[in-house]
Amino acid sequence: MPKNKGKLVCMVVVFVLALTLSVGCFTRSNAEADDQPAPPPGMPSLKEIYKDYFEIGAAVNLSTINTHRSLIDLHFSSLTAENEMKPEGLQRTEGRFSFQIADRIVNLAVDQGLKMRGHTLVWHAQTPGWFFQDKNGNRIDQKAVITEEDRQLVRERLESHIENVMQYYAGKVYAWDVVNEAISDDGRYILRQDSPWFRILGEEFLEIAFRKAHEVDPDAKLFYNDYNIERPYKLNRTIQMLQSLLDKGVPIHGVGIQGHWSVGDSLAEVEQAIKKYAELGLEIHITELDIGTRDISAQGLARQAEYYRQAFALFKKYSDVITSVTLWGISDAATWRPNDNPLLFDKNREPKPAFWAIVDTDKSWEENKAYYLGE
Ligand code: G3I
Repeated sequence: MPKNKGKLVCMVVVFVLALTLSVGCFTRSNAEADDQPAPPPGMPSLKEIYKDYFEIGAAVNLSTINTHRSLIDLHFSSLTAENEMKPEGLQRTEGRFSFQIADRIVNLAVDQGLKMRGHTLVWHAQTPGWFFQDKNGNRIDQKAVITEEDRQLVRERLESHIENVMQYYAGKVYAWDVVNEAISDDGRYILRQDSPWFRILGEEFLEIAFRKAHEVDPDAKLFYNDYNIERPYKLNRTIQMLQSLLDKGVPIHGVGIQGHWSVGDSLAEVEQAIKKYAELGLEIHITELDIGTRDISAQGLARQAEYYRQAFALFKKYSDVITSVTLWGISDAATWRPNDNPLLFDKNREPKPAFWAIVDTDKSWEENKAYYLGE
């Protein structure tokens, strides 16, 4: 083959290859983006409806930012990473921070102008064991005697994690769940006794965490986040813990009520708790709302809708102190409670009666649906 002809063949092959690859990429990313059809015209937007009340957020993960993308775009003004920003997501190995996965969620929020909540810096779960091991690999929290050196090591790790993560996300994450689920379920204690943070550092771990967080990003809103802290068995102990931090001048700005509820749970208790936390001068975020029902008959879904309606009417009533309400997921197709059908959209990502119920809490879900869809 003449030299020039050979060169030409080569160039054509390279061109065709490049074209094939780029078409391949294009179709793949389009397929991901198109994974969910756009909602029909006329659908109300939750973030529009609630814009004068509070942020309306959703917990998302690497999969749902694709599979639920059009619902995210239409309805939510705030995102939380369901797992990706937990210690095991960001620092699985000591000193090796990996932000790439979490970045895909944070960048979506930044690109779309959504608020980003950080979840979570200090927790007893989803935290790699190395945080609590001494230099010989022994678990410090299991030792009969914990030395000052052990304490110092763990304190440094806690502070270093907070420093690296919050510095990296400063300006992108506006609110952090600094400490998650520290209150004990056992009424004899204020703090959970089985937390390695508590066992090693004592109650001071909360103060250390909040002070460090504030030092690293003084603009971030710092939250204490927990489940059932609106229930009488945990409420007073949580107030006591928060009050004692506030008395010491610890920078804590808000309390996150998770809200993993079931239809029928008392909303009067929730109202009492909102009042009490507000009296402390704290902002309130509902951080992980999902309201389960096993009954997915028409009646069961209507009951769930009515409960969601009442819950959102309550949140609106206290919107001077409740500044964000986040659902822990978007549809029943992707939830940590797959048998409880706890979200606003069903397994096909279609709006449930619960969605229509919160569109206007002064009307019934049927009226709202008929009004918007003209059915
Ligand atoms: O990442 C691994 C994957 O590699 C493995 O193949 C798979 C097999 O089970 O597990 C994957 O990890 C799972 C992880 O979610 C990511 O999907 C864990 O098993 C599973 O336990 C974990 O559950 C998460 C749970 O926190 C852990 O405590 C849920 O998705 C998440 O919704 C849930 O969120 C918590 C909040 O952070 C705090 N409040 C309570 C709330 C509900 O439990």
